[in-house]
Amino acid sequence: MDLKKTIELMNAEIASFELQSNEALESFRIRFLGSKNKIKDLFVQFKELPPDEKKELGQILNQLKKTAETRFEEAKKSVGSSKKKSGNKLDLSLPAPTELGSRHPISIVRNEVEEIFARVGFTVSEGPEIEDDWHNFSALNFPEDHPARDMQDTFFINDDFALRTHTSSVQIRVMERSNPPIRTISPGRVFRNEAISARAHCIFHQVEGLYIDKGVSFADLKQVLYYFAQELFGQDVQVRFRPSYFPFTEPSAEMDVSCNICGGKGCNICKYTGYVEILGCGMVDPSVLENCNIDSEVYSGYAFGLGIERLTMLKYGINDLRLFFENDVRFLAQFRSEG
Ligand code: PHE
Repeated sequence: MDLKKTIELMNAEIASFELQSNEALESFRIRFLGSKNKIKDLFVQFKELPPDEKKELGQILNQLKKTAETRFEEAKKSVGSSKKKSGNKLDLSLPAPTELGSRHPISIVRNEVEEIFARVGFTVSEGPEIEDDWHNFSALNFPEDHPARDMQDTFFINDDFALRTHTSSVQIRVMERSNPPIRTISPGRVFRNEAISARAHCIFHQVEGLYIDKGVSFADLKQVLYYFAQELFGQDVQVRFRPSYFPFTEPSAEMDVSCNICGGKGCNICKYTGYVEILGCGMVDPSVLENCNIDSEVYSGYAFGLGIERLTMLKYGINDLRLFFENDVRFLAQFRSEG
């Protein structure tokens, strides 16, 4: 058979070669592109041709080689992509493999506290975690060198700045920049230089509240806190107020709620008293109002401050404060259905 005829036949073979699998691709490669391929044989025969035939046949032979190469590359691509497609087939009957995240219990309770106070008209205010002496202490009636400063062990940054020890500092900022009536809560992180244990931590979260208007009384304070306790712990909760001391409120009190863990019967969480302290409160000291340019002859107000960790421990029966900061997923995953 002459070379031209052989080339034609081989062209037809290349065009009709089934190339739908990797195995077919490999036999095609061996046959037409490998080290001992058929086309090479034709080049050997080509060399023997007389020069006048070489010109025409040289071109069609080179074309044959190119056709084989292109066919191979294209088939390789389409086998690869159809493989990917079939591997990714969407099976809608499979259960969703996604792991649902959960809110941190501190966030759940913080949100709940914010919602409860929002329902009676409190806005939310935030402020810096690094505070100056004025906003964290002096404006709140902690005179310099006064022993009341030792009530809160402070992380100092330098002579002028410290990590805030409470979010009362935010309330000073709000009073400085706005006119009464003021009704706001300030949630946020606070810092105290305490040894870490099941009952104490150097970082914790507070929500402090402030209401300033004409004629605000201690009765208003008791009413809003009783409402808050009922919303958070249920209608049957008992509250009690005990006299206390804070430099920035006068009179001052602490509020206890009946123990959520034992229902008031007595347990180790409430130290067998049936009650647990949840917050400090009082009527804003007139000199604090004056420090913020609010006329204390015209306005009065109340303030309160609570620790979110304490509330969360009571609400969920958690007995170790450190769990909130360790981010152990076995602990956190238990709050999946909440918040
Ligand atoms: N700032 C106080 C604390 O951190 C709590 C408090 C706030 C008490 C407002 C009374 C009034 O302990």
